[in-house]
Amino acid sequence: MKQNIDKNFWDSINKIKEKNDEYYKRTGKQKTSFIRTYGCQMNEHDSEKISWILELMGYKPTTEESEADFLIYNTCAIRENAELKVYGKVGSLKTIKEQNPNLKIAVCGCMMQLDEIRETIEKKHQHVDVIFGTHNIDKLPILFNKHLNEDRPIIDILEDNLDLVEGLNNNRESDYKAYVNIIFGCNNFCTYCVVPYTRGREISRKPDDILEEIKELAKNGYKEIMLLGQNVNSYGKTLNNDYSFTDLLTDINEIDGIERIRFMTSHPKDLSDELINAYGSLDKLSNHLHLPIQSGSNNVLKRMNRNYTREDYLEKIKKIREVKPDISITTDIMVGFPGETEEDFKDTVELIKEVEFDFVYNFIFSLREGTKAENMDNQLSYEVKHKRFEKLSSEINQIILKNNEKLIGKEIRVLVEELSKNDDNKMSGRTDDFKIVHFQGDESLIGKMVLVEITGAKTFSMEGKLI
Ligand code: 5AD
Ligand code: SF4
Repeated sequence: MKQNIDKNFWDSINKIKEKNDEYYKRTGKQKTSFIRTYGCQMNEHDSEKISWILELMGYKPTTEESEADFLIYNTCAIRENAELKVYGKVGSLKTIKEQNPNLKIAVCGCMMQLDEIRETIEKKHQHVDVIFGTHNIDKLPILFNKHLNEDRPIIDILEDNLDLVEGLNNNRESDYKAYVNIIFGCNNFCTYCVVPYTRGREISRKPDDILEEIKELAKNGYKEIMLLGQNVNSYGKTLNNDYSFTDLLTDINEIDGIERIRFMTSHPKDLSDELINAYGSLDKLSNHLHLPIQSGSNNVLKRMNRNYTREDYLEKIKKIREVKPDISITTDIMVGFPGETEEDFKDTVELIKEVEFDFVYNFIFSLREGTKAENMDNQLSYEVKHKRFEKLSSEINQIILKNNEKLIGKEIRVLVEELSKNDDNKMSGRTDDFKIVHFQGDESLIGKMVLVEITGAKTFSMEGKLI
């Protein structure tokens, strides 16, 4: 496997580790770290890499934020509320650091890629010791070591993913399901979205690097793989050969030990017939497709620069249901885009009723600096946006409950994940169609693929019986 971590990575790791070991000898205490992750699966997976680096540096993970010696905030910029949470959090650390000057704080992730935001943190929050971005996670030890030597805040941001870093390992959250990056960045520039600015231009990992990582995961007992990318359907375009996303899925399907393949997220304009047909032939592909539509109105889709129409989308749904009639389809919807009329909103409500989605992630448009939508006329009021959000949410809840009820009596494969959060005697996991199910069982089932008969349905989860 290609290895191109920064050449000073290991050297810096060793220097920091030495200091932490010495501290341990002196005090009998091992230093601890805590990572708080905001946002999507991509960020969660980046945090798994950061966690591995922290452990190499001699920091033991702790679940107690208030006790940690090193705090890392991996930020998200997709909507304003995600950002506000980070500002609140980082601001509140100032007094904590005054009381405990030995505490170390790093802030990274999508927000740090945006100049204005990063500069605000730099100026207003000088208690932050290290700032890095989404493209240089492998620099963390080097930057932190520099901070220790120079005793000043260290900031380092790369503009883009010019060469992908290979060779970073992970402290994965789970022992049986794993995130695997396949493509980074996005070239779509939807007019509302900040991701092309925070995650850079699209770039695909080499198939051999991906397959090697997954084979290793399979050897270590991992059963489920979630392939990650802002637009996985665009996989391969930067490889300069004709190897496609479907080719990648076909190769992964051959790997012994892997039982279920998921991926997130797909862009409707790039969902190929080849991929749709793969749902009929690849047995490990999960019975689920997440296909964000954003709006049911062609006027709005056009102004969002989505490059498909409502009719194109419905046609793709029809095709995929011909190949796999019971496939679970989920989507993202954004209400309150600038200029969205009552008529446009009605089109969205009609569309979700027509498709009968299995789940809808419903968002309120949030104005992002630097995007085209920022300067669009007819920004809607808070009241209008919230009213539409509430109306759509209640329609969605009825549809997804109806869909869940249709599964009662069916036997579905479930990867058992954890003790149920509401009932200590129950276990929970996700079905092939990405639905949460709770059922009677014990912890020895964790990590196993089991068959469950669905006995009850709610809006956000289902009840089942182990078979
Ligand atoms: N405001 C609200 N929601 C947004 N999303 C992306 N950008 C914004 C924004 N500016 C939503 C989209 C996307 C999901 C990950 O987040 O629906 O699919
Ligand atoms: Fe954002 Fe559009 Fe790219 Fe998705 S496809 S990350 S919504 S710009």
